[in-house]
Amino acid sequence: MNSVKNTFASEQVEIVAKDDLTGYITFKLGNFIFSRDEYFAKVTWTAKGSEHSHLMSADAFLRAVMRDVAWGFFYGWVNFDHVIGTQNHYGSVDMYAGTFNGVLSAAGVDYVENFETPKIMATFKAILHDWVNEGFDPFAAPEETGSAFGRKNGENIEAIDRYRIATKRMPGMEGDSPLREDLPVNRQFLDVPQDEPLVHCEPGFEGQLSAFNLFKYMSRSDVTWNPSVTSVCKASLFCPTTEEYILPIFHGNDRVEWFMQISDEITWDIADKNDGSPFARIIMKAGDICAMPADIRHQGYSTKRSMLLVWENATPDLPEKYASGELPPYPVSF
Ligand code: PHB
Ligand code: FE
Repeated sequence: MNSVKNTFASEQVEIVAKDDLTGYITFKLGNFIFSRDEYFAKVTWTAKGSEHSHLMSADAFLRAVMRDVAWGFFYGWVNFDHVIGTQNHYGSVDMYAGTFNGVLSAAGVDYVENFETPKIMATFKAILHDWVNEGFDPFAAPEETGSAFGRKNGENIEAIDRYRIATKRMPGMEGDSPLREDLPVNRQFLDVPQDEPLVHCEPGFEGQLSAFNLFKYMSRSDVTWNPSVTSVCKASLFCPTTEEYILPIFHGNDRVEWFMQISDEITWDIADKNDGSPFARIIMKAGDICAMPADIRHQGYSTKRSMLLVWENATPDLPEKYASGELPPYPVSF
């Protein structure tokens, strides 16, 4: 191990050392240590006076961290797997190991620590910058990207620093950001019609009314499992996304969210939010709609690239209302 200077954008990033053999940097975040080798990411913490560690396949770990960073820690819980993850407190973030795993928490070997959001964000970004090799894109489907494995080999800054295109007006209108028609139609969406709707305005309303082909837009998405906010109406956010392989995280809900399957098929594993015990398996086919209750975690699987609409409720005080029991975890009681 070599000591190494912090060349990351933020001084909040703590570096332990750089491994001579693999070339990867080991990071420290509070009492957590993050290291990686050719195949695995390793997270180490201390509980009950002894050291514990957890391994994840490097590709799965990097896909999960990429989502946490891109989504600003998202709503509620982002479980990287059945042991480690983050809980968003909207200003600060908990990093935990074992806390939401029934067996590890019962044994008392779990550990949770709270961080100001900028510190954990800077650390996760630095991990991505150092651990993502040239040719590996953590947003891409496995068939559409190179390998995450091996010793340190370059970097892929364009892939991990993708920025969101913010619309200035209704999408498709003169002066708005482009609808990314430069991206090719994905190999699995070659049958998606590419024609745009025809809009006929009443005289006097020209330039104020627009429509665009959302299927065309989604057929050209170069990322997977990454909802984009395409419409905002008060607290109602429509977030369409294209899905292939596995959602890289188990999302634990702090509110109800809705899924509408708009093409093909996704299988969802649903488990208890607090201890991870399995609840249900759902197969959603095109046209199916379901609500994900506020007391579960879920992970999706999509063999053929599919289109999903995630409907989020951004009302600010929802997490407290569900946590206190003021609102039942289900949107409808039968
Ligand atoms: C979710 O956690 O609800 C979620 C996240 C990303 C997706 C789809 C669903 O692409
Ligand atoms: Fe979710």
